[in-house]
Order: sequence, then C-alpha cells, then structure tokens
Amino acid sequence: MSFTQEEYKEKIIALKQKLDVTIVAHFYQRDEVFEMGDITGDSLELAKRTMDDDAKFVLFCGVGFMGQSVKVLSPQKRVVMPKIACCAMARMIDSLYFDDSVKAMNNQGVLTENILPITYINSNADVKAKVGQMGGMVCTSSNAKKIITSAMKEGKKILFVPDRCLGQNIAIDMGLKSAVIGIDEDLASADIICYDGFCSVHQLFTLDDIKFYRKKYPGILIAVHPECDPSICAKADFVGSTSQIIKYIADADPEQKIAVGTEFNLVNRLRPKNTYVLSSTKPECPTMNETTLEDVYIALKAIDDGEPINEITIEEETAKWAKVALDRMMAL
Ligand code: 13P
Ligand code: SF4
Repeated sequence: MSFTQEEYKEKIIALKQKLDVTIVAHFYQRDEVFEMGDITGDSLELAKRTMDDDAKFVLFCGVGFMGQSVKVLSPQKRVVMPKIACCAMARMIDSLYFDDSVKAMNNQGVLTENILPITYINSNADVKAKVGQMGGMVCTSSNAKKIITSAMKEGKKILFVPDRCLGQNIAIDMGLKSAVIGIDEDLASADIICYDGFCSVHQLFTLDDIKFYRKKYPGILIAVHPECDPSICAKADFVGSTSQIIKYIADADPEQKIAVGTEFNLVNRLRPKNTYVLSSTKPECPTMNETTLEDVYIALKAIDDGEPINEITIEEETAKWAKVALDRMMAL
C-alpha cells in the first residue's frame, strides 16, 4: 500500500520519535528525504557527526561508501540504508584494480615501498583497506590538499584513487606533476599518479556552459566542485567541495550571480535568487536520487518490526584496515 508524500513524512516522524534511530542525509539527497535528516552535511561532516551521535541505529540516506564509512568508524552502531545505492565512481575501482594500479607503477620502476596510496572517500571499504595496509589514508574533497601536503612529506610517489580529476586538480593547485594510469605513458616522473576513475555527474559541465553564462550575465561567478575536469576548474572563479561551495555562496553579495557546477539537488536548495545550475543538462546524481521517502519509511518500519533491512556489514579484516586509513585522515 502506498501513501502520499505528506503521509510518508508523518509516518517517518512518528517512527523516528518511537525508535532509537538517527536519520543521516547527504546534501545530494532529494529535498523531501533531506528534510527528514537529523544530521545533514557533506561526506566528511556526516562521518564525523555520526561518530558523536549515540543512537543505536543510523538510517543513512546517501550512497554505499558513506554508510560503510559510518560503520567502519562506529562499529557498535547498526547502520541501515533505505537503498544501498552505489556511487558510480566508487564502483570504478575494487581491490583487484587497486593491485593492478600498484603493478602499473612497479612496471615503471616505482617500488611498492615507495608508493603512498591515498583514496578519495568515494571508494568502497575493500579499497580503503588496501590503502590502510599500505600506510596510506583517506581524503575528502574538503581536505584533499591538506592530506596530500602531509603525505608528500614522506617523499614517496602518491597513488591517488579513484578520482582522476580530484587528483589532477590538487596536483595543479600544488604545482605538482600528475599522470593518469592507462592514459599517460610516463608515470615514474609524476608526483601524483591517478587512477582513471571519474564522476559522470561532474563530467556534465562543459566549457560551452561556462562561455554561455559568462556571455549571458557579464560579471557572473563560476563555482565548481573539484570532481569536474581540470579544464573546467581552470576557467572557474572558485573550486571547492560541497561545504566550501555552500559557504562561498552564503558569503557572496545576494545580488552577485553565481553559476554552480555540482549536483542538482544541492544547487537547487541554495539561495533561490541569482544562483544558476552550470549545465543545460540536469546534473542529478542517479544513485543519490534512488532513495525515496517510501524507502525511508520501509526501512524504519523494518527496524520497528525487529527485522532491519539493508544493514551494512563489513568483513572484520577489511573493516580493521579501512578504519586505519580513515583514522589517519581524522587525525589530520
Ligand atoms: P562531498 O565529499 O562534498 O560530500 O562529496 C561527495 C560526492 O559524492 C561528491 O560528488
Ligand atoms: Fe558518486 Fe558522482 Fe554521485 Fe558523488 S555525484 S555520489 S561522486 S556518482
């Protein structure tokens, strides 16, 4: 039996009051799901704030790697997801592809002990575990520069997975040389060696979109996420993570027009006036959009019935090493 959106909201609120559960929602969720969140934010904020929360159940509205990060950092919590939606970028790499990337570097004379891997938080626990075992750590788009700056002090080659664009953008920002496995022939002379993964949503923003807005609204500012291609970031006025973009817009003059190159649900929720989506195509993240109010209700009802669904479980050894990689980031 299905209900109207308002009915679902009432039922969710009633179940939230009854159960020992915290609803966590990422900024990219549908508006009606986002509204149900007790904790909302970007991936880093969600991981940190959920650690400090003491509810027995976490109902995580986001994508799989985010729910996994909560489980790894807070193993005592029972983490359930209304939909186990998998970020398309995270799905581009697994532990075997990770090993192949190390081998590609070995084949160019870079010894494994001279490689320090860093994984973007948008990766599954098995990849984070590999990174942890090799002495590496996790980063998010908010802290990637800080993490790479710290990692560079070890004097090793950085293997950056899975987002090619984030790795390349940070390299440009820091005046370092990057190379992409499978694309660039010479890996050995680069400081940051990137895996060739990408976010299909953030690839939607084009130079033509920027030209269009600059011509239509002279003086407009362009703000983009570092998952966009380096050619797009080079032409933007501001490059920042989800939270940094939100702050950039909140701090701007309300009359300042800004076109934003990141996920649609977030941009649409920013100030209603003078903010534009930097694309002629609606840049929605299909996997973030999979979670509906009905799913949230069904997952809460299952907890209430004593039979939780879609509970995140991670094999012990994987969780142990993924935690090492996440803890190293948290310590910084
Ligand atoms: P944040 O780390 O900014 O939350 O971004 C996650 C993400 O999936 C961006 O596409
Ligand atoms: Fe993954 Fe891109 Fe969606 Fe972010 S926007 S969750 S990187 S597919």
